[in-house]
Amino acid sequence: MNNFSFQNPTKILFGKDQVANITKEIPANAKVLMLFGGGSIKKNGVYEQVSAALKNYDYIEFGGIPPNPEYSILMDALKIIKEKNIDFLLAVGGGSVIDGTKFLSAAALYKGENAWDILKKGIRTEKGMPFGTVLTLPATGSEMNSGAVVTNKETQEKLGMGGPGLFPQFSVLDPSFVSTIPEKQLANGLTDAFTHVLEQYLTYPIDAKIQDRFAEGILVSLIETAPNLMKNPSDYDTAANFMWSCTMALNGLIQKGVPTDWATHMIGHELTALYGIDHARTLAIIGPSLYQHTFEQKKEKLAQYAERVWDIKTGSLEEKAEKAIEKTVEFFNSLGIDTKLSKYTDDYKDTASFISKRMTERGWTALGENKKITPSDVVKIVEGAY
Ligand code: NZQ
Ligand code: ZN
Repeated sequence: MNNFSFQNPTKILFGKDQVANITKEIPANAKVLMLFGGGSIKKNGVYEQVSAALKNYDYIEFGGIPPNPEYSILMDALKIIKEKNIDFLLAVGGGSVIDGTKFLSAAALYKGENAWDILKKGIRTEKGMPFGTVLTLPATGSEMNSGAVVTNKETQEKLGMGGPGLFPQFSVLDPSFVSTIPEKQLANGLTDAFTHVLEQYLTYPIDAKIQDRFAEGILVSLIETAPNLMKNPSDYDTAANFMWSCTMALNGLIQKGVPTDWATHMIGHELTALYGIDHARTLAIIGPSLYQHTFEQKKEKLAQYAERVWDIKTGSLEEKAEKAIEKTVEFFNSLGIDTKLSKYTDDYKDTASFISKRMTERGWTALGENKKITPSDVVKIVEGAY
């Protein structure tokens, strides 16, 4: 097992009616900015619950953060934070609202001139403006980690940021909020969380028994939960299992002491930046092609995944590993998710070389757990997903 340090300071308030308890977490004299997305919270009662909890606070609202949070819109919110002397942020939404809020937490205290540099130059945030979250869409794990991804439409870029100053102070996880999530977003959430685990598990064996069992436990839970969740998201226990699985998939725990990949995410973000394809769907497009392309490096863990998660007990190591990739594609397809780029756009002929060139320009020339994925591999991985 590799050396590691692990600290996750986010307090989780899990369960029904937990929104009311945010008053115990936000300082009474805070000047609060409540941030949300396109309005789903106004249709499902979440807005009312949060407004009721904030009634004794000095607070204002900022709505309209879109999926794949857009830099120029966030800059409007930053202006309000500065003008109104806001000192506490409350994100109410999915990964996009939470990530947008993390950007604002960093940008509010950033001393440089251009806040885009935080993303472009990869500036880590050691200290951000304090913030909490009320999660409405299980998927990204952003509610309990310190990373964020922001989109810039003008430059067609989608870049990551992070740092120890960007953990939420608290996150409310109320599974009742899952009941209004559209089928398409439920499928996205399952696929995103599933791929988060694979990024941290499907590498090479290093005898990290507990991390492997945690990872396999989350994968099995997501597979078991998926059919009922897609049929009946109002079922509280199903929603609770879905929600906690997604959080545990990317709160840092399972990646400690083990190699991690993340190349599927890095390539996938380019597809969102270029075509606006939902984040989770880009992972379903790139993941299977990447596992094929890096088969020799990953085959031992692929076979372990086949045996322990998909219960495939017969065949050679290679056969099991191949079967695991097939099962993964079948799982995504069972959620209504296509795994080929050509199903999402007709304009894909030059995509592979474009993405590879862009990554080369950024110096991203050695991706994956072995740092062996070169720009020419990126071309083959993306072409393999056409
Ligand atoms: O905007 P509103 O009206 O709220 O509607 C949203 C949005 O249209 C809707 N929604 C959310 N909760 C709902 C609901 N609709 C009905 N009922 C509810 N309870 O769902 C739509 C999608 O929301 P979004 O927040 O965009 O989805 P998701 O949570 O999948 O977040 C995706 C973003 O997170 C980033 C992605 O790249 C993408 O930008 N990620 C963040 C990560 C992190 N910070 O750790 C890791 C991930 O790998 C990912 O990159
Ligand atoms: Zn993801």
